[in-house]
Amino acid sequence: MAETKKSLLTEISTPVLDSNDRVTIVGGGQVGMACAFTILTQGISSDVVLIDVDEKKMQGELLDLQHGSLFLRNPRIDAGKDYAKSANSKICIITAGARQREGESRLNLVQRNTDIFKTIIPQLVKYSPDTIFLVVSNPCDVLTYVTWKISGFPKNRVIGSGTNLDSSRFRFLLSQKLGVAPSSCHGYIIGEHGDSSVAVWSGVNVAGVCLRELNPEAGTAKDEEKWKEIHKQVIDGAYEVIKLKGYTSWAVGLSVGSIVRSILRNSSELHAISVNVKGIHGIKEEVFLSLPAILGKNGLTKIVKQKLEEVELQKLRECAKMINEVQSGLVI
Ligand code: NAD
Ligand code: LAC
Repeated sequence: MAETKKSLLTEISTPVLDSNDRVTIVGGGQVGMACAFTILTQGISSDVVLIDVDEKKMQGELLDLQHGSLFLRNPRIDAGKDYAKSANSKICIITAGARQREGESRLNLVQRNTDIFKTIIPQLVKYSPDTIFLVVSNPCDVLTYVTWKISGFPKNRVIGSGTNLDSSRFRFLLSQKLGVAPSSCHGYIIGEHGDSSVAVWSGVNVAGVCLRELNPEAGTAKDEEKWKEIHKQVIDGAYEVIKLKGYTSWAVGLSVGSIVRSILRNSSELHAISVNVKGIHGIKEEVFLSLPAILGKNGLTKIVKQKLEEVELQKLRECAKMINEVQSGLVI
């Protein structure tokens, strides 16, 4: 210890360096930084590592965040391109890769981002063999499958952020139409995080009162009140934001933060997240799609068996077939 420090402090025991809640974010772009900002400002983890190929940018982001440490409950933050920094992460969030241009579908990014994942996943596995993968990059569901394949991890430790974000958009839009807060409007978007997502209209409710009990046609083409429009707005939402500001970031960062919190706090909270759905709801394909699922310290613990209507089941199965087709053309 240097002299002044020695005069100030009497060491009783050696400080423990590992805070046991390290979260690594690979990809320090708009989405990665929004995830980091949520996790740090909400005190979800006290130890955040950012990894990106752009080392200079990471150094800038690191300093900028560290300068705010006083207001962040004194976290440990590190950043760079060396995966050794990520060692012993409890959760590895992947937001690296290409994003959609205006009007482009998420599925267009599939091989480009798979190739990037081939360089990222083995490095993360090497330094954190017990970690939980949380995939955010698009197409989220296919890349969660790619991560599962490359890592060789069990199903409980590979999930995608999936339709946690779409469900949040859905509940916000329901809240606008009903004048009831989003947290009090209950409903799920399941299936693909993308254009073929499925709105579970049969379960939409406020305080246990199902919309369908009041309007049996809600969510169907016959409905005069046009509730179905809300699902269209959910699908179009990302395209609209991308058209206006070039990318989406804040809502996905908040959505990812909520998933990370549930894992680290072992809270058994439920989220619509992308999970391996083979054998569920009659799905035969080995694909990842979103269903309401429970999260704990070891990742995915349970999937909720929703009572879906026949039309919802059909849409979900079609979605699985389509994703499987995309996967069959991939070079992993
Ligand atoms: P961005 O261009 O701002 O950031 C991408 C970052 O990835 C860049 O900093 C780049 O340097 C880094 N990167 C590229 N290759 C890398 C590699 N091999 N290793 C490490 N880092 C690498 O893009 P963005 O807006 O942050 O979007 C990132 C991804 O997240 C996109 O695929 C986008 O479609 C997706 N996204 C998903 C959701 C969701 O809900 N799942 C929401 C928004 C965006
Ligand atoms: C989203 C991204 C683009 O905001 O997947 O939905």
